[in-house]
Amino acid sequence: MSVRVLGIETSCDETAAAVVEDGNTVLSNVIASQVDLHAQYGGVFPELASRAHVEAIVPVVEKALQQAHIGWLDLDAIAVTYGPGLPGSLLVGLNFAKGASLGRGLPLIPVNHLEGHLYAHWLKTDVEGAALGNLQFPVLALIVSGGHTELILMHNFGKYEFIGGTLDDAAGEAFDKVARMLDLGYPGGPVIEKTAQQGNPRAFNFPRAWLPGTFDFSFSGLKTDVMRTLHRYHGPRPLRLTTDMAASFQAAVIEVLAVKTARAARELEATGVLLSGGVSANQALRTAVRARVNVPVYTLPLNLCTDNGAMIAAAGTFRYQAGIRAGWDLDIDPGLRLA
Ligand code: KG4
Ligand code: ZN
Repeated sequence: MSVRVLGIETSCDETAAAVVEDGNTVLSNVIASQVDLHAQYGGVFPELASRAHVEAIVPVVEKALQQAHIGWLDLDAIAVTYGPGLPGSLLVGLNFAKGASLGRGLPLIPVNHLEGHLYAHWLKTDVEGAALGNLQFPVLALIVSGGHTELILMHNFGKYEFIGGTLDDAAGEAFDKVARMLDLGYPGGPVIEKTAQQGNPRAFNFPRAWLPGTFDFSFSGLKTDVMRTLHRYHGPRPLRLTTDMAASFQAAVIEVLAVKTARAARELEATGVLLSGGVSANQALRTAVRARVNVPVYTLPLNLCTDNGAMIAAAGTFRYQAGIRAGWDLDIDPGLRLA
């Protein structure tokens, strides 16, 4: 008998729901993005995000069931992100999931958003490089998004070790902030990557925070240096300056991410590297990591890099099969860690 899990994700600015069969087959994956809503602020506006989730959650879940061609009675469980994330946003998904679970008599499975980003790699896709098959552990995961920059060693399903993380801004946050400084719009990652292709990555020697002896990261100094450099120029900004700054900034972020990931993979004897999260959509990052490690590097199609419900359903299926259930007192945990 196959297991069908509905995954619900509202930890940040995407209202997402998906149905996944047997933890690896995506029957539907519906996302209502709030990008246009937050673009005017150059970043996620938490209060508006919660309200947009309230409006979107019911239609998004209905669409996920419709596209999977199933009804509530065909589900085995409901998995929901309960942290980490924005409190107001998490509450919408969690309370919807509780209500549905109570109303339909389905088990409620609590999922850590970061665990979801890891399990995205076990979803079957048509794209080369995704879907792991018979992977040997341990594998090293770099989770890089608007909210996270973490190196996690996965010893087995459900068994994680924290290796390093950002001390200040997340990598994606730095992309978003620098894009705003350069008047490139939001979200910053894709537009900086595109702009950087026209620029010289060696035009500006922006600082790299190596933080020796650790696998931690820091991007706030880099961001401040970009700002300081920008303030040296007055008047209309030539296109060349924007492209060179985008390229030099991106090179600084990627070099530190790639070097530290490669060093950790080597020292911890990982059998593979998983790249997850919105920033892992960046082709230059993928190329830089691949150039530095001598084990396979697994990447995801774009819609599974960024936040989605399928990854929550996949992680939820594993937890469902492990017998994990949430009580009705399950609360959000905005600062939840993976290890
Ligand atoms: O995983 P995600 O959808 O949401 C969070 O959990 O934060 O990641 C969104 C982040 C944004 O900061 C966005 O600028 C960044 O991922 N991003 C990228 C690229 N595409 C998205 N950063 C660098 N290069 C990209 N191509
Ligand atoms: Zn995420």
